[in-house]
Amino acid sequence: MQYVIGNWKMHCTVPEAVALAGRIEDGLEDIAKDQPLPTVVLCPPFTALSAVSDVIQHRSISLGAQDVHWADHGPHTGEISPTQLKDLVQYVIIGHSERRESGETNEIVARKLKAVVTAGLIPILCVGEKELTSKAASEVATELKESLAEIEPKTVPDLLIAYEPVWAIGTGDVAESGHIAEVATHLKKTAAKIGISDGQVLYGGSVDRDNVERVVDISELDGLLVGGSSLSDQSFVSIVSAVSRHG
Ligand code: 13P
Repeated sequence: MQYVIGNWKMHCTVPEAVALAGRIEDGLEDIAKDQPLPTVVLCPPFTALSAVSDVIQHRSISLGAQDVHWADHGPHTGEISPTQLKDLVQYVIIGHSERRESGETNEIVARKLKAVVTAGLIPILCVGEKELTSKAASEVATELKESLAEIEPKTVPDLLIAYEPVWAIGTGDVAESGHIAEVATHLKKTAAKIGISDGQVLYGGSVDRDNVERVVDISELDGLLVGGSSLSDQSFVSIVSAVSRHG
């Protein structure tokens, strides 16, 4: 696996975020003495991006934002554009189910994706079925296709697809390995058919230090998107360590 991404959601004040990032960085440096690190990306809330960026400068963590607006600038009170993020982050989460819950459609996600790619940032596109059914793979493939509708796939050098079954997020209920493998394979095939030959698939949904060994064994996956367990440096560093050991 190549990626471990921490989504801090709406947690941490600025001082808390700075302290957490510093502790994670120290933990990663210990791992790096013995093993090569995967790409580690932290996605703090917007309010802490600048301060965390200062802490991790020239170190082994990259930064991501949790959302973005599709417009470059304009009268959009409370929104943040890709251009405004460009100096701070390399990655942007788009279409997280917690945003879709408040009305974000595939059409909106598609506009955001186009804006992010145009700005030269790397999208982490979230898809995931609401309920566990036999139609999950085709449901998420439709989400993927519709989310890619605004872009010319060949213009997307990097696309991280985060498969996050909604029913597994924050529930302690990690999807079965066979289910994750099946959906990941289907997502990669769908991306390839559209013209994205190197779509990487991450899994997110209740990954923690106790179940990570099972998840890293799923060879169809290229990484993890971690929510709750990224808020504890010990848990998050243990997860990175498991990924790093696994290679
Ligand atoms: P949990 O790891 O808390 O289930 O959250 C997953 C997630 O939503 C990451 O974006």
